[in-house]
Amino acid sequence: MSQPDIALAIIGGTGVYRFDGLQDIEAHQPVTRYGALPGPVRVGTLAGRRVAFLARHGEGHSVPPHKVNYRANLAALQSLGATRVLALNTVGGITEGFGPRVLACPDQLIDYTWGRISTLCEEEGSKVLHVDFGEPYTPSLRRQVLDAARAAGVALVDGGCYGATQGPRLETRAEIARMRRDGCDLVGMTGMPEAGLARELGLDYACLAIVANWAAGAGPDASEVITLDDVLANVEAASSGLPALVTEMLSG
Ligand code: HPA
Repeated sequence: MSQPDIALAIIGGTGVYRFDGLQDIEAHQPVTRYGALPGPVRVGTLAGRRVAFLARHGEGHSVPPHKVNYRANLAALQSLGATRVLALNTVGGITEGFGPRVLACPDQLIDYTWGRISTLCEEEGSKVLHVDFGEPYTPSLRRQVLDAARAAGVALVDGGCYGATQGPRLETRAEIARMRRDGCDLVGMTGMPEAGLARELGLDYACLAIVANWAAGAGPDASEVITLDDVLANVEAASSGLPALVTEMLSG
């Protein structure tokens, strides 16, 4: 069955369970060969274009990062007609310039996750893929995100390296110190395998990272304890410009 085009698919992370501004919303729950979704894909209109939104962890945040069915989520969005995906990822900041409430559009990543199904080649008999991943985020989509942020007057850091950790626990200070030495600016738990799978599926994919806290030991008070309340408050505050940014993307 052919589907009308979806101009943009948005995947929401921790603290982002719906997308403000979508109108005439319909719920879809496509069945994928990779299994079930954590909840409905909400398809609505924004700036006259069709936009799909999926809460990565489910709308009640019931799926931890290592249990997210990344393949099903992306395949479902693709089956609804999406070709470009904007991933919202809640993260901790590691380096200067990536403090709480900063929005960033990283251009690199390092994968520290393990034991997750990270490829479409998992099943017996499936075609072996060796996709190019030197630029893990689609450069043209990153450019659209950055241009839209500028047009919308939303501050957005251009670049940075996202380190994807296994979770669901937060990191030790030593782990964050090592990630800093490795060159990571941001740390989150859901950036991979999502980005790699998007590449295998042929989807354009960019990450918009929402910094919720200083990562362990990275902030001015190295002994600060990270609380979920702080994380959620910072995500909410930092997300207020997202509808305007996405509206600009759709009109570009
Ligand atoms: N570490 C990993 N993931 C996160 C963090 C963090 O400090 N904050 C929000 N998501």
